[in-house]
Amino acid sequence: MISINRATTEDYKIIVEIGNVSVEEAHRASSPAKDLNEFIKKNYNDEVIKSELSDERNIYTIIKVDEEPAGFSKIIFNSEHSNIQQKNVTKLDRIYLLSKFFDLKLGYELLKFNIDLSKKNNQSGIWLFTWTGNNRAINFYLKTGFAIIGSHNYQVSANYSNPNHQMFLNIL
Ligand SMILES: CC(C)(COP(=O)(O)OP(=O)(O)OC[C@H]1O[C@@H](n2cnc3c(N)ncnc32)[C@H](O)[C@@H]1OP(=O)(O)O)[C@@H](O)C(=O)NCCC(=O)NCCS
Repeated sequence: MISINRATTEDYKIIVEIGNVSVEEAHRASSPAKDLNEFIKKNYNDEVIKSELSDERNIYTIIKVDEEPAGFSKIIFNSEHSNIQQKNVTKLDRIYLLSKFFDLKLGYELLKFNIDLSKKNNQSGIWLFTWTGNNRAINFYLKTGFAIIGSHNYQVSANYSNPNHQMFLNIL
């Protein structure tokens, strides 16, 4: 049984725990360990995630399988970007599943939930950044209809950045 629900402030531990494991696994090859660890420590601790969850603009969603948390996503409506002409576009800021839940179409279900929610909120498209070496994620996005529309240097730590694709999905 799959459930997909918006996270509340009480769900912070789930996001911190999955974030610490999944972000490290997905980006291990993208950055020196020191810089990636700094990134994870800074962005996935109890205080930061509690504060993110208490900001209405951050829409975190948790997907569970038989009550067990499998992953989460974060979107922000109306996140315009200079490279995108369309107005009212959503940024898919984070989407992470635990690896034991890969390839079960849970990523697709979670993405679909976010697309439907974005449509209901008068959004015209969804965009994201993804590290250029993340083949699993890039294939997933291409399969679900995203196109590569640009590139971006993602700042991982004070001293390290890596190349990202910018991708876009029209949902009009
Ligand atoms: C990216 C992610 C959300 C996709 O979710 P998922 O549930 O694994 O994907 P789905 O089962 O819905 O879709 C699988 C699709 O992913 C792609 N894929 C799966 N494994 C792959 C691999 N080893 N290499 C390349 N592409 C792969 C394929 O396109 C596949 O489609 P197909 O099975 O129809 O051929 C999930 O794998 C994940 O959380 N990855 C780690 C975190 C991450 O990288 N997040 C994105 C940061 S930008």
